[in-house]
Amino acid sequence: MGEVFYVTTPIYYVNDLPHIGTAYTTLAADVVARYQRLKGKEVFFLTGTDEHGQKVAQAAAERHLDPQKWVDEMVPHFIDTWKLLNISNDDFIRTTENRHTEVAQKFIEKLRENGDIYLGTYEGWYCVSEESFVLPSSLVGGKCPDCGRPVEWVKEDNYFFRLSRYSDALLAHIEENPDFIQPESRKNEVVSFIKNGLSDQSISRTSFTWGIPLTQEPQHVMYVWFDALLNYISAIDYGRNPERFERIWPADLHLVGKEILRFHAITWPAMLMAANLPLPRKIFAHGWLTVEGQKMSKSLGNVIKPAELVQEFGVDAYRYYFMREFSFGTDGDFSRKGMLNRYNSDLANDLGNLESRILAMVDKYRQGVVPKPSTPGAEENDLISKASEAATQIDHAMENLSFNGALRKIWDIVHALNRYVDVSAPWSIAKDPSRGTELDTILYTSLEGLRLIATYILSFMPETAEKMLEHLGLSEKKGELILPHAGEWGRLPSGLHTKKGDPLFPRIQREALESN
Ligand code: MSP
Repeated sequence: MGEVFYVTTPIYYVNDLPHIGTAYTTLAADVVARYQRLKGKEVFFLTGTDEHGQKVAQAAAERHLDPQKWVDEMVPHFIDTWKLLNISNDDFIRTTENRHTEVAQKFIEKLRENGDIYLGTYEGWYCVSEESFVLPSSLVGGKCPDCGRPVEWVKEDNYFFRLSRYSDALLAHIEENPDFIQPESRKNEVVSFIKNGLSDQSISRTSFTWGIPLTQEPQHVMYVWFDALLNYISAIDYGRNPERFERIWPADLHLVGKEILRFHAITWPAMLMAANLPLPRKIFAHGWLTVEGQKMSKSLGNVIKPAELVQEFGVDAYRYYFMREFSFGTDGDFSRKGMLNRYNSDLANDLGNLESRILAMVDKYRQGVVPKPSTPGAEENDLISKASEAATQIDHAMENLSFNGALRKIWDIVHALNRYVDVSAPWSIAKDPSRGTELDTILYTSLEGLRLIATYILSFMPETAEKMLEHLGLSEKKGELILPHAGEWGRLPSGLHTKKGDPLFPRIQREALESN
C-alpha cells in the first residue's frame, strides 16, 4: 500500500450551528479530497467537532444541561450539514470520544517525559469566546482583539508547554520548507510573530472541569486548543496503531481559517517537534466571508445556514458559487444577487444550455448514439488544443488551492465549446445529407468536450458531473476516472447511447427568488 494523501479541516466548536463560514473550510477540503482521489491517490479526509472548553461548558450551563448531553445534541447538526453538502469525509472525530481523550492524555505524558511540561502560574486575560489567552498589549479597548468581546482575568496554577524552546527550530523549518505555510502574506505574519518572541503556553486549566483530565493531576483539564489540535493524530491512531499512523501521517494539508493559523503554524508544529513527530506538509489559511458587506453574527441576525441556499439553488450550485466567487486566500463577500447571477450565467446558461443543446442534436440527428469522428479540422484542433492546455493549468491551480482559478480554466473550455458549436452550426450541416461525416465529427467533438468538462467539475460538482457522464452513456465507467488519463482527448467511445435528461440548472427567475 502506497502513501496516503491526508487532508483535514479544523474541528468545529459545537456551540454554533454550521453556517456558510464554517462550511467554507469543509467544502474546500472536500474539493481537495475529491480532486486527489480523481488523481488516483488514496485519500484520508478528516473533519470533526471540538467539544471541550469553557465556552461549551458555559453554553451547557445556561441551558441547565450536562455538557455531554449538550454536545451530543449539537453534533448531528454538523453531520447532517456535511451530508447535505455532499462532503466526502472518511472519518468524523469528536474530541469527547475515548479514542481521542486517551491519545491526548498519553501525548501530554510523553511531552512531560521529554521535559517540555512544567507547573507554573498563569495570570492574565482570557477570551472565552475565542478560547484564547490574550496578551495585555493585544487588547483593543480592553476587549478581545479577535471577537471584540470582554475578556476575563484568570489567575491559576497551570501546566505549561515550553513553546519558547522551539522558536529557532520553527523558524528554520519555515525557511527550509517554503510551502509549509501558505499563502505567503500569512507566512510572513507567522514569521514576525515568532521573531517577536514566543512565551510558553499554558496547557491546563483548573477553574472548570469540562475537558480532558491530566492522568497524573485530574484536577487539571487540558486547555481546549491543546486537546483540539491532537485530533489530527488521534483520529489516525497515534500511539495505538503505529503502522496505520505512519502510513497516514504527516498530514499533507491542514486547511484553516486565517484567525486560527497561529495555533496551527506555531503551537501545533512545536507540539509535534516535542513529541519527535514529523510536521504537516502544508498549512493553508483561507480568508473570511462577510454577508452583504457585514460580518456574520447572531446579533445582526445575518447568519446564513447552508441549507437555506441549498434549498434555493441546489447543492452543486452552492458548491460552485463558494469555490468560484472567492479567491481562497483572501476575504470575500457573499451576496445573494451575486449567487443568483453566477447561477444563471455560468451554470444555467453557459453549462446547462450547452449540454441540452448538444444532447438534443445527438438525439435528433443520430438517434442518441455517439457517432464516430473522422479527421479533425481546424476548428476541432483549436478546441482540442485549448482543452489540453487547460488541463495542465487546471492541475496547477488545483495543486495550489486556487479553486476559482481552476474553475475559470474549466469555464474557458465551456466557452470554447459553446463557440465551437456556434461556428460549426451542426443544425445547418444536418440539412445536407452529403455532409454526414462532417456532422459526425462535430457531434462527437461536442460530446467529447462535455465529457472533459464533466471530468473536471467532478470535484466541485459531483452530482452534476455524474449526471453529465450518465447522459453521455458513461455512468458505469465512472469508477475508472483517473487524471491525467481521463483528461486526454478522444477517450469517449463511439456507439454509446446518450440520454437527454432534465436541464442541469433550470434558470431561476429573480422574482421567484425574491418571493421566497
Ligand atoms: N475549534 C476551533 C478549531 C480547532 S482545530 C484544531 C475553531 N472552530 S470554529 O468553529 O470557530 O471555526 C472553524 C473554522 O470555521 C475556521 O477555519 C474558521 O476560519 C471558519 N470560519 C468561521 N466563520 C467564518 C467565516 N465567516 N468565513 C470563513 N470562514 C469562517 O476555531
